[in-house]
Order: sequence, then C-alpha cells, then structure tokens
Amino acid sequence: MSHYHILATPRLTPVITTVFKLSIVLLLLSSCSSLSFNQTKEDISPSIFNPQGPAANMVANLSWLMFGLAGAVFLLVMGVLILGLVRSRPGVSVHESNPAQDRRFIIFGGLLMPAVVLGIVYVSAIWTMRALAAPAEADEIVVEIVGHQFWWEIHYPDFEVTTANEIHIPAGQPVRLRLASADVIHSFWVPELHGKIDLIPGQVNGFWLQADEPGVYLGFCAEFCGIQHAKMLLRVIAEPPERFAAWLEHQAGPAAAVTTPELEEGQQVFFESGCINCHTVRGTNASGTEGPDLTHLASRLTLAAGILENNRGNLGGWVVNPQHLKPGNHMPPSNLTGPELQALLTYLESLE
Ligand code: CUA
Repeated sequence: MSHYHILATPRLTPVITTVFKLSIVLLLLSSCSSLSFNQTKEDISPSIFNPQGPAANMVANLSWLMFGLAGAVFLLVMGVLILGLVRSRPGVSVHESNPAQDRRFIIFGGLLMPAVVLGIVYVSAIWTMRALAAPAEADEIVVEIVGHQFWWEIHYPDFEVTTANEIHIPAGQPVRLRLASADVIHSFWVPELHGKIDLIPGQVNGFWLQADEPGVYLGFCAEFCGIQHAKMLLRVIAEPPERFAAWLEHQAGPAAAVTTPELEEGQQVFFESGCINCHTVRGTNASGTEGPDLTHLASRLTLAAGILENNRGNLGGWVVNPQHLKPGNHMPPSNLTGPELQALLTYLESLE
C-alpha cells in the first residue's frame, strides 16, 4: 500500500480543491494597487517593478530572478504533485518500489536542485548588495537624513541647507545618502529608486541613490515606528542639474524678509505662541530643533510629512489642530484667535 493513496481519498480532495481556489483568489487580490496613501493628486502607488534609476534596476532584476526561480520550482513541484494525484486511484498501487530510482530522485530533487537554485540566489543577492553599497565618488552630493517620529529631517551638509520631508536631487547623477535616527528605528524606502534601508539610533547607514529622469518619487517609512508610521511619507524630487543648483542656492539663503504690517503681525504670533520652541526660521530668532525647519516652508510640496498638499487651508487646519490630522504626532494644538491665525498663515506662506 502506498501513502500516495491518502492524498486521493474522498475526504481530502475537497480540502485540496478549496486551498487551490483560495490561492487563486489571493493571487488576483495581490494585483490590487489603488490604496490611497495621501490626499494629493499624484500617482500614489509606486512599484519596485517600475525602476527609475540604476539602484532600483538592480533590485528589480534581483526580484525578477527570484520570482522566476520560485515560479519554476513551484510549477515543477505542482506538476509532480498533480501527476501523483492523477495516477493514483483508491485501491490501486502506482508506486512500484525502485530503490535506485528513488535515491536518484532524492539526490536530484532534494539536494542538487535546491543547491543550484539557492546558490544562484545567494550569489546574485551578494553581488547586488555589493553594487548598492559601492563607495562614494569625490564629487557626489551628500544628503543627510534623520528620521523622527514622524517626519524626515533633510540636510545638505556641504551647502548648509536644511529642509524636511522632501529630498531634491539632480537627475542622472548619483547622490550619497547618510541616514540616522533621532528616536526609534525608521526605514527609508523609495520603491522606484532604491530598496529599503534602516535609520537606526546611534548608527549612520549609507548608500547612493540616482533617478535617471526628472520627476517626483514617493517614498515611505518602511519600519513600524509608532502610531503615525503610515503617515511618514517623503518625496524625492529629481530635477535637471541647473534647476537643482538654483534650488540649493535658494534654500541656503535666510528666510524672506518681513515687509508688510500683516507679515510683521504674523511673525509676532509665530514668536509668541510657542512655535519657536520647536521650529527654526533661519535669519530670525526662531531656532528650535524639535520640529521641521520652516525657513523655506512655502517652497515645499506637502505638509505634515507628505500627507497634505501645501496650501493655506491645510496649513490652517494643521496649525489649529495637528492631533486631529495625525493623532500622536509631537506638535501641540494652538489656541489662536481668527485674526492671529490668518496673520500667522500669511507669514508662513511668505516663507518661500
Ligand atoms: Cu518612521 Cu515608520
């Protein structure tokens, strides 16, 4: 009596059929990609299978290789299984014992084939990791990224530029990233440009990043870091080199001067209502470091770590009650009168 009979007993066949049907449904579901991560109008579901730079290309190629090998092994195993099911009938033995053949089958299918498949995956993975960790070239632009609960602090140390939640880079050139954390472990992930890399307290991780074409590439925090982990987005903005240089020069400058009575009033509100405890506006007395640098706030695309389009309405909602939009973030609500809020918003909108 062969044990193959067990698979084909009437009681188990419906179970196998159900598992098979379920796996088909799961496969179909996995192609759903219309998850809404933010409220802006751009494409919001970047994929590693749409690589937009050399590093992402390497990651995508490795993924396809692993997918192809896994698919081939899956089909082979399923083929053998189906063959066994088809050829077995209750009460009929199909398994004529042949020790030499069995041994050959086990050595090939159980040792040789896994060794070759895993060997290919191992060598390709090591090769890809080495290429992704290639050392810096002398003229590369360095960007330092510090993860916070729940936003990204961005520095360009060679240019004394500090911003938040968006990284401008010159298209077609590699940029060196250095990543650290101010609190817990975060993970930097821009699927179209690079694989994930952790931001770990007390340690600096590094890699290089390149976007082949100008564009805006959406990124995420990919390591659970607290209550607003899902709303810790960032954007990599790749620009033609001359536009990037102009951006850098502008960002290195101090905040726009206060030129009208309303702006003066708004700045006064900013100074007196606690904003300066956490935020810096270069060129003024505001030098807090808890929250994002606001020197050029109005030049940024989004607010609140990428979840809101940067416009006056969203800014007002955020300033009045940030806990409503992102419960658990570190910004307290404010208690401003209507005119105070309007003046403050006008001032913040002037910080281009
Ligand atoms: Cu930061 Cu998850």
